[in-house]
Amino acid sequence: MKHFISLHDVTHEEFSQLLSLAAKLKREQKQGIEHNILKGKTLGMIFSKSSTRTRVSFEVGMYQLGGHALFLSSNDIQLGRGETIYDTANVMSRFVDGIMIRTFDHQDVLDLAEYGTIPIINGLTDLLHPCQALADLLTVQEHKGRLRGLKLAYIGDGNNVAHSLLYACAKAGMDVSIASPAGYECNPEIVANAKEDAKILGSKVLITNDPAEAIKDADVVYTDTWASMGQEAEKAERAKIFKDYQVNKELFSHSKPDSIFMHCLPAYRGYEVTEDVIDSERSVIFDEAENRLHAQKAVMAMLMVGDNK
Ligand code: CP
Ligand code: NVA
Repeated sequence: MKHFISLHDVTHEEFSQLLSLAAKLKREQKQGIEHNILKGKTLGMIFSKSSTRTRVSFEVGMYQLGGHALFLSSNDIQLGRGETIYDTANVMSRFVDGIMIRTFDHQDVLDLAEYGTIPIINGLTDLLHPCQALADLLTVQEHKGRLRGLKLAYIGDGNNVAHSLLYACAKAGMDVSIASPAGYECNPEIVANAKEDAKILGSKVLITNDPAEAIKDADVVYTDTWASMGQEAEKAERAKIFKDYQVNKELFSHSKPDSIFMHCLPAYRGYEVTEDVIDSERSVIFDEAENRLHAQKAVMAMLMVGDNK
C-alpha cells in the first residue's frame, strides 16, 4: 500500500490488517502504551474545505505516534493562488513525509500521488471519503463483534461517504444497500467496482430509490447530510427532494431491533435524521468520530513506516 486514496485500491487483506492495527492501537492508547513509530516524521495536511474531525484526529494521531502535523489551509498556501499540483507535489515531497489532503476534485489527489514521491492520504474529496469508512467499520466491528454477513443500509445522498461505504462493505464481506432519490444515486462506476469487489467475499450490493427496501433487516443504518460541502446553495431544494429519505423513528423501526445508527457528522437534526434516532441509545456517532483517530493512526503507520504488526 503506497497511498490511501480509495478503498477500491486496498486489498481485502490490507483492509483487514488496517482494522486489526487500528483496534490494537486503540487498545494500547487506552492502556497508556506510548508509540514513537513516526518520530521525526511530518505530515502535511492540506485543507481546501472545512473540517473538525479530520483535522483534529490527524493532528492528534500524528502527535500520539511521535510525529508532527502541519495544518495547511489552501487559502494560505500558493496552491490556492494557482500554483500547480505538479510543483506543489514536488516541493512538498522535499519537506514532509506524507500528505493528507481534503479537497473538491478527486483528480487533484490522484495527481498529487502521481507527481510526488511521498504517501498521499485522501481526507475527503467530492468522490470519496475512505478514512471515514475505515473508522466506520472499526466501529461496527466493536459494536457487533464481526463484519462479515452483516447488512449496512445507507439512506440519502449517493455522495462521497456512500461511495466509500460501498467499497468498505465489499472489502469486509458486508451486504450494503443504498437508497437515494432519483437523480442522486451513487456514481455507477463506483457501484460496478464495488460489485466486483463484493464477489470475493460473496456479499450483496443493492442500489434502490426505496428507503423501506434498503433498510429492511439492516444491522447498521447510516445517513449523511443532504447537502455536502460545495452544495450549500442547493440546501433548500435538496431538503424538498430528500424529505422521504429522513431517518426517523418510523423508518428506523424497519431495520433489525438491535440495529445501530451511524452518521459521519456533521449532522443536521430535523433534516437527514431526527433527534429521537441520532440521540438515542442505539446511535454510535461519537464512537464513530473517536475511531477516526485510531483508524488513521493505522493508515499512517502502514504508509509511513510500513508497520502493520
Ligand atoms: N466526518 C468528517 O470528516 O468530519 P469533518 O468534516 O469535521 O472532518
Ligand atoms: N458528505 C459530506 C461529508 C462531510 C464529512 C461532505 O462532503 O460535506
